[in-house]
Amino acid sequence: MNTAQPTALPKAAQFVLFGAMGDLAWRLVGPALFNLYLDGQLPAELRLVGVDREISTPALLERLREGVQRFSRRGSPTAEQWSGFSARVATLPMDLQDNAAYSELAEMLRTSRATPVTRIYYLAIPPSLFEAVASGLAHADLHLDEAHTRIVVEKPLGRDLDSFRAIDNTLRQHFAERQIYRMDHFLGKETVQNILAMRFANPIFEPVWNRRYIDHVTITVAETIGVAHRAGYYEHAGALRDMVQNHLMQLMCLIAMEPPVAYDADDIRNKKLDVLLACRPIRPDDVSAVAVRGQYAGGWIQSVEAQGYRDESGVAPDSNSETYAAVKLLVDNWRWQDVPFYLRTGKRLGAAVSEISIRFRDVPHNAFPVNTGFNAQPVRLVIQIQPQEGIILKFMAKEPGSPLRLSPVDMRFAYGEAFSKPSPAAYETLLHDLLQGDATLFMRSDQVQAAWKLLMPIIQTWEGNPAPDFPNYPAGSWGPEAAERLVARDGRAWLTPSQWHPKTRAGLPGANEQ
Ligand code: BG6
Repeated sequence: MNTAQPTALPKAAQFVLFGAMGDLAWRLVGPALFNLYLDGQLPAELRLVGVDREISTPALLERLREGVQRFSRRGSPTAEQWSGFSARVATLPMDLQDNAAYSELAEMLRTSRATPVTRIYYLAIPPSLFEAVASGLAHADLHLDEAHTRIVVEKPLGRDLDSFRAIDNTLRQHFAERQIYRMDHFLGKETVQNILAMRFANPIFEPVWNRRYIDHVTITVAETIGVAHRAGYYEHAGALRDMVQNHLMQLMCLIAMEPPVAYDADDIRNKKLDVLLACRPIRPDDVSAVAVRGQYAGGWIQSVEAQGYRDESGVAPDSNSETYAAVKLLVDNWRWQDVPFYLRTGKRLGAAVSEISIRFRDVPHNAFPVNTGFNAQPVRLVIQIQPQEGIILKFMAKEPGSPLRLSPVDMRFAYGEAFSKPSPAAYETLLHDLLQGDATLFMRSDQVQAAWKLLMPIIQTWEGNPAPDFPNYPAGSWGPEAAERLVARDGRAWLTPSQWHPKTRAGLPGANEQ
C-alpha cells in the first residue's frame, strides 16, 4: 500500500522461508513471491532460502512451480519467467530444533556487502516450533540489526489469551516488537484496504458515520468450503478462533476506528486498538445472549452434496468444534454507543461471500403516502470484500411516471470496472509491505491480545459446555436458527449479502431483508 512513510524496497534482501516444503509456502507464499518477481516488485538482489527438514533446491523448485501453477492468479509461468525466478532460490535442510544448525544458516547468509541486507525470517511452520526457531536464530546472532531484520508469523497465534502471550513472549524475548510481523491476510485484501480510503479520503461519509445515522453494522464472512484437509488444526480452533478473533474483528476495527492523524503504521494501529479496548466486555452470564455457535450437518450447496462436519476425515464423531460463529459486539464510545456490530462467519454456507453492511437509520418522519412502497428497504452501504469487489449504496428512488411509487435502487462501484489493473493477491501486498518495512497492515501484539481478551468468556463458556444441538445447520444454509434469534431479539435481521441469489435464498434463515 502507498503510505506517507518513507518506505522503499531495499536493494538487497534475504528471504528465509522456514517450512518451505509445507502447505502455506506452497499455496500462498511461493505464488505471491513469484508474482512480485514478475511485477518487478522484489528487491533487485533477493535471495530466497528455503529451509525444511528434508529439502533440496530441485525439490523445492518443483514444489514451488506446482504451487504457482495451481494457485497463482496468473497461472503457469513461462520457461523464461521461471528460470529467472529459480536463479534466486537456494535451500538448506535443517533440523529446526538443533541450535547448531543455525550457525550453518548464518554462514549461508553471510555476505560481503558493505550496506545492510534486509533479512526476513518467514515462519511457515506450526507455532509449536516458533520458540525453537526464534531462539535458534538468536543463538547464531541472526536476530540482530533491528532495522533490517524481521520475523513473520501467521495465525494460529495461540488458542486463547494465555497461549498467545506465551508465543508472543517467546518471540519478544529475542526480537523487538518492530521486528515482529504478525500476518492477518484479510488486511492485505484490496477491498479491505479500501475501507480506510473510502472513509477518510472522502468528506461525505464521516459526518454520518456514527450512532446518530447508523442503526447497526453486520459483517459477514461466509464460505462454502468445509474444513478440507485442515481438520487437525480446525478441530482445535473452530470458527471463533479461526476467523472472528482475527479477520472479522479487524474488519470491525476498520469500520469503527477514529480517523488517523497520518497514514502511519502506529497511528492506524493505535486507532484500531482503541476500538477493541472500547468494546463492552462480555460477561460469562451473557455469552448465550451475544454469541451463537453452529456446526454443519450434511446438505446441498449449489446442487452439490456436502457431508456433515463430523463425517469429514480427521474430525471426531462427537466433535464440539464450531464451524459457524456469530457474535454481537458493542463499542462503548461517543461514536458508537448502542450501535450493535453483528459479526458472523461459517463454513459450508450457501454462498461464498464476504461483505460489510452499514444499515442507516430510518427517516425520522415518512412524508410519503403508505402505498408508495416507502420503507421497503432501508438505506445501506454495502462494502463487498469478495468475490465481488466494490461498494453499493442501496437507497430509495422514485419510479418513473405516476402514480407515485418508490423503489429500492443500487448505486454501484465495482473495482473491475473502475480500474483496469487487476487486484494483487493479499499475500503479494503484505509481502511487499514486509520487504519495505511497512507494518501498517500487520497486527501489533496489543491488538491481538485485546481481541483474545474480549473473546475469552465465549471461548471458556463454549469449551466448558459442549453444544447439545450440534450439528445444527445443514450445509448450504445460512447457519443455525439461533443466529436469527441473536439479532431478532434486538428487532433486527441479518442483512442478506447482496450476491445471495434470490432462488438459493428462498426459505433459508436470513432470507428476509430488513
Ligand atoms: C484463513 C482461515 O485464515 O482464512 C480459513 O484459517 C479460511 O479457515 C480463510 O478459509 C479464508 O480466507 P480467504 O482469503 O480465502 O477468504
